Amino acid sequence: MKRVILVTGTPCVGKTTTARALAENLGAVCINLTEFAKTRGLTLGEDRVRQTIIVDEEAMYKSLGESISAANTDIIIDGHYAAAVTPSELVTHVFVLRRNPIELKKEMQCCGFSATKIDENLSAEILDSCLIEALQNHPDKVCELDVSGQATEDIVDVILKVLNKDRNCSSGFVDWLDMLEREGLTDRYLRV
Ligand SMILES: Nc1ncnc2c1ncn2[C@@H]1O[C@H](COP(=O)(O)OP(=O)(O)O)[C@@H](O)[C@H]1O
Ligand SMILES: [Mg+2]
Repeated sequence: MKRVILVTGTPCVGKTTTARALAENLGAVCINLTEFAKTRGLTLGEDRVRQTIIVDEEAMYKSLGESISAANTDIIIDGHYAAAVTPSELVTHVFVLRRNPIELKKEMQCCGFSATKIDENLSAEILDSCLIEALQNHPDKVCELDVSGQATEDIVDVILKVLNKDRNCSSGFVDWLDMLEREGLTDRYLRV
């Protein structure tokens, strides 16, 4: 049966890198939602303050449903809002990548994110935003993976084990808030 695999998580956790490596391994089609929105014109405009495109989520839901149904290989969908815009009856697996906020912040600084964007993304990671959205829309299909310090090939290896049922899925074990509290770093990382 065709698998429809979502790879979600806060911006900069490593979704695109992981999704592409996984697609290569599986011989699957990989859909990056930012590219998909742009090439298909599924945008409502631009949010200048937040420097992002505004996605027409309803149009994307429809368009993704059509693309998934038309495909005859496994499909990997990569995006931080993948769980919100993919029809749940078509989805088989949801991988939520988690990355330690200390590591994530360094990565975002290297990638040139603005200070506002860094704070926004760190809060989203610390408060489990993508995980919550995945669990709300696709209960029983969610696999949370702490990819902090992990090489892409090792992350792909774990995903393949889950897909082959050689490894169980679970979620709810990542607790960055607790980690930051213990390190006395909450105020530096969680700015809401
Ligand atoms: N497993 C990894 N370990 C270390 N750095 C990584 C890993 N995966 C991706 N990166 C780096 O993190 C940054 C964000 O990766 P990317 O795949 O674009 O994330 P996303 O698609 O979630 O925004 C890039 O600079 C990338 O090279
Ligand atoms: Mg990406």
